[in-house]
Amino acid sequence: MNNDYREVNLKGAAMSKNEIPSHHGSEDLKKKYYPNETVRILCERASLRNFSEHEIPEDLLNLILGAGIHAPTGGNLQPYSIIKIQNKETKKALADLCGQNFIEKAPVDLLFCIDWHRIKRWAELEVAPFTASSSFRHFWVSFQDTIIVAQNIVTAADALGLGSVYVGTIIDFIPEIRKMFELPAGVFPVVLLSVGYPISKALPRKKLGIDTIVHSEKYEERKDKDILNAFNEKYSEIKIPVTKDRVEIIYKVAKEVHGEDFAEKVIGKIKENGYINAAQRYFGLHYIASEMPKNNEDYLRLMKESGFGWFKKFETKNK
Ligand SMILES: Cc1cc2nc3c(=O)[nH]c(=O)nc-3n(C[C@H](O)[C@H](O)[C@H](O)COP(=O)(O)O)c2cc1C
Repeated sequence: MNNDYREVNLKGAAMSKNEIPSHHGSEDLKKKYYPNETVRILCERASLRNFSEHEIPEDLLNLILGAGIHAPTGGNLQPYSIIKIQNKETKKALADLCGQNFIEKAPVDLLFCIDWHRIKRWAELEVAPFTASSSFRHFWVSFQDTIIVAQNIVTAADALGLGSVYVGTIIDFIPEIRKMFELPAGVFPVVLLSVGYPISKALPRKKLGIDTIVHSEKYEERKDKDILNAFNEKYSEIKIPVTKDRVEIIYKVAKEVHGEDFAEKVIGKIKENGYINAAQRYFGLHYIASEMPKNNEDYLRLMKESGFGWFKKFETKNK
């Protein structure tokens, strides 16, 4: 293999959606029968990125938010807050930060945050002991709680003729987001959701089927061919054309993660296929395997700066 591939700088090399064909194969909606509206809405849900100019009436938005906060939470503590963002300048600033224009187009963006700050204040006011922001268990559950409420809001919005899309990219800009929204210690941004009316309804994307996802009674190891068939079916559209840049990046990533022999195998597979396959695209070009784990320590530091301490040894006052 040509040594050229070894000198590529991968910092910020993740290819944008405009550069590599997307992973969004659509499902065939024909012949689908649903026994009721709820199931239809769930099965036909799709991320919406083309928002119309229509504002969401306040009553309707409150209805959606109210439906969302009926979501279950561990211990019914509701350790989350939602920042409702409608201000044009703020939406533009967020869109610029995340590099995703639809954030500005959407009439409302909702920022979902873990919030132990409110509960800490309550505990203080009621003179109760409090350590939740120092507990991994509490962190883990509050993360789940925050996502569950967000997804309830997605479903409520869909049921009322709106659409939405999550923006996970905010996780790359935590200091900026904390500053923009004046998040106090104990409040941590998890995900953004852009919500609005569709210009045209998005088609549901192909998913792995229940025969792949669901295991009966215990984890059933799938056969190689079943795994390949399932992913090939889901990503049948993805055959990324080979370019020098793409191959250089994939080679460099593969070598850094699994060594030179493996990198050569990757190139061999690309040559054999005549294209870059979906798995190579995901972990070689998009969520770059050699870069992804590098910022783990940054995230721990950001957690600390945001007032969380679950990764540190807990010191009691007992001597
Ligand atoms: C946690 C999370 C983060 C996401 N972040 C983004 C994002 O930053 N930008 C985007 O356009 N879509 C984002 N999405 C939407 C996914 O791309 C989308 O759900 C996926 O491609 C499947 O398509 P579907 O939602 O239409 O089924 C995100 C989804 C989730 C659940």
